[in-house]
Amino acid sequence: MRYHIWTVGCQMNVADSHKLAAGLDRLGWASVEKPADADLVVLNTCSIRDHAEQRALSKLGALKKLRSQGNEFKIAVMGCMVGLNTDELRRRFPYVDAFARPQQFEPIMEAVGYEDLGGEFWPATFETPDGPTAYVPIIHGCDKFCTYCIVPYRRGRERSRTVGDIRDEVEHLAARGVREVTLLGQTVEAYGHDLPPEAGRSRPPDLGDLLRALHDIDGIARFRFLTSYPKDMTERIIDTVVELPKVCEFFNIPVQSGDDAVLERMRRGYTMREYLEKFHLIRRKVPNVAITTDLIVGFCGETDEEFQHSYDLLAELEFDKVHVAAYSDRPGTIAHRKLEDDVPQEVKMARFHAIEQLEAGISARINSRLLGQEVEVLVEGQKTKADGESPWYGRSRGNKLVHFSGEAKAGDLVTVRIDRASAWSLVGTADAPAAVPARP
Ligand code: SAH
Ligand code: SF4
Ligand code: F3S
Repeated sequence: MRYHIWTVGCQMNVADSHKLAAGLDRLGWASVEKPADADLVVLNTCSIRDHAEQRALSKLGALKKLRSQGNEFKIAVMGCMVGLNTDELRRRFPYVDAFARPQQFEPIMEAVGYEDLGGEFWPATFETPDGPTAYVPIIHGCDKFCTYCIVPYRRGRERSRTVGDIRDEVEHLAARGVREVTLLGQTVEAYGHDLPPEAGRSRPPDLGDLLRALHDIDGIARFRFLTSYPKDMTERIIDTVVELPKVCEFFNIPVQSGDDAVLERMRRGYTMREYLEKFHLIRRKVPNVAITTDLIVGFCGETDEEFQHSYDLLAELEFDKVHVAAYSDRPGTIAHRKLEDDVPQEVKMARFHAIEQLEAGISARINSRLLGQEVEVLVEGQKTKADGESPWYGRSRGNKLVHFSGEAKAGDLVTVRIDRASAWSLVGTADAPAAVPARP
């Protein structure tokens, strides 16, 4: 039997798709490129913005058409578009064979004839990695309820995995060639608060303890974690990053807005002053740190002046990357019920483009500082259409994509000298692969 999985959304979805694929592989199924060749087509969906849902809906339309042309695959919709109550979805899409909430694969497995696989069928340790990097969710769900955000309604309350379970998975991945592990959580510093204290301890484990518990696993050269919540980031965790050589100097710490009144309407739980304190603490303590952020423009009631505060903040802090999004009203959220989505679409787009333009200049500046420098790159692979000039690619410790020429293979840590830099790319030449120190 053959399956095809289509995935959009965040790294959590990528990890979920991977796990489902591993389960199907285990039952002897094979993955195929084209839905038409499959017996089961799974759409792993995202609801973060309307646009993400529209993509899934158009995919669904295309599948319906394919099926009416005589293809007999089953269709499953999983992920964040599937809420608690699937009745409405069933009414709207009667031709869909299964709806599954994030990580609840049972309805999909049942639709293809596996009735009682049971929870033990999905142990932490049967995934086959795609390459030298892997995502490992450590805490599921989110308890924050930012007013604009649908995630808590679709992924439920926070649930941490145990240190032992995570360690088993990382050891398993390491034994199969994984060199870099990114630990995932919607607010990754919340890790552990719902777990009992470990033996000999008076408090539950936190992200720092977890990193310490994973650090000695042979074969893993790098750890990262995503996504940081400004208020929950502690000095202890920052110190752990400084102390542990395998943990990359990289933080994605979303600010969402540079204006206190907007942050309050978003119920982010911090003021600009508190954000800046955390930001500067990280910059001060962590040498060579890369910091990225997320920003929403055009949130309910955002005035020109409030937007200007976000703009000025980015100009001042020079993040390594900004994931900017125009606000999209999400039915079911607090903002949808209590605030008015009153910023006109053209204004949202103008603000979006202003941020993009600002960021292009900042990225060009940051990247140009790397010209002539040597950076440590973990080789991820080769471009499929290798132009012969710089066929290899991988990421720096700061998570920057680097294309390079020279001798390498996937999974190597190489030192690359940066020869060309623009806002969009870094291109360089690798030294012969040799043992490089963990830090540049
Ligand atoms: N847990 C992370 C982010 C999760 S969602 C955090 O707290 O930052 C990823 C990003 O999508 C968010 O950072 C936010 O910038 C964006 N986003 C979430 N809801 C949105 C909405 N309704 N409209 C536009 N962007 C949104
Ligand atoms: Fe959404 Fe806020 Fe939770 Fe992030 S912290 S997932 S933005 S509710
Ligand atoms: Fe999207 Fe769900 Fe991730 S809404 S961003 S796939 S948590």
